[in-house]
Amino acid sequence: MAVAARAHPALRWDGRVLAILDQTLLPAREHWVELEGAADTTAAIRRLAVRGAPLIGIAAAYGLAMEVARRPGPGPLAEAAALLAGARPTAVNLGRAVERVRAAALAAEPAGMAAAARAEAERIHAEEDAASAAIAAHGADWLAGRRRLVTHCNAGALATAGYGTALGVIRGAAERGKRVAVFADETRPFLQGARLTAWELVRDGIETTVITESMAAPLMRDGRIDIVVVGADRIAANGDTANKVGTYTVALVAREHRVPFYVAAPVSTIDLDTPDGGRIPIEERDGREVTHVKNIRIAPEGAKVYNPAFDVTPHALIAGIITERGIARAPYSESLAAIVGRSLASST
Ligand code: MRU
Repeated sequence: MAVAARAHPALRWDGRVLAILDQTLLPAREHWVELEGAADTTAAIRRLAVRGAPLIGIAAAYGLAMEVARRPGPGPLAEAAALLAGARPTAVNLGRAVERVRAAALAAEPAGMAAAARAEAERIHAEEDAASAAIAAHGADWLAGRRRLVTHCNAGALATAGYGTALGVIRGAAERGKRVAVFADETRPFLQGARLTAWELVRDGIETTVITESMAAPLMRDGRIDIVVVGADRIAANGDTANKVGTYTVALVAREHRVPFYVAAPVSTIDLDTPDGGRIPIEERDGREVTHVKNIRIAPEGAKVYNPAFDVTPHALIAGIITERGIARAPYSESLAAIVGRSLASST
């Protein structure tokens, strides 16, 4: 089966303006929004019009590059970098990408700041594209006989450049002729699974069944799932992994039913400076995401709401972490350090 992953990129860059596919409107409408600087890019990231750890890094990198072109100089650069980096706290890719563009601009002569920032943003974009492709290739080899998968949230072309991470593995397998069957958790409250993962996979002709998170347990108990593959927003040095809220529950259920639980993520999502999951900042979002569905109130006025956007899956529940440089396995404090290319000594 030929899979047209690149037929639905989530952003386009023409060298001057960034256009994003507004993911809040999918699957009902495919509407592109043009962004021109740091403020509108930050707003788009905050409202999840553009989302997914690698993709918000890429968008923020372009957002900063566009702002430098509009308002060159170290003052506006610092201001715009702080705004973009603070848009969402959990995905490490965001702050890292912004810092790379900021440093590249600062290292250039004043007249060359905009060009340097743009070149660095384009480099980040290309690196993430290559990482997705490599994850897809590794993952497809390693998936071997396992063909019935659960995934949570959306770690696909809409969350990265190119193929995606968890969905990259699935696409890689499908491209090699494997008949994969994907069970996509709907992923309350923003429905990334039902709206986005299912949209991507159906377009690619990959068998897709949408389930609520709570349906994964009976499926696993009944022997209908071979493997779980999810993405990540930040992987701590010990392997603890932050991903969309609900991932931890899926990992617990998978352990109970002896279904291997894997994470697929680029090296840009590994954060050796964060020792464990307890130190990963978890974004809390507006309670309205929980109390309302499409502007219709479903919970009574007066009820309190708890709406963390992410949770942390402890490393002990993770069978392996698939990256573009190979698969890390326990003990993760060693394997992740080796994959990132830093010695244990220098990372402590
Ligand atoms: O809030 P979101 O939609 O940005 O959350 C996205 C996820 O949790 C993804 O699984 C993660 O960013 C990996 S994307 C390759």
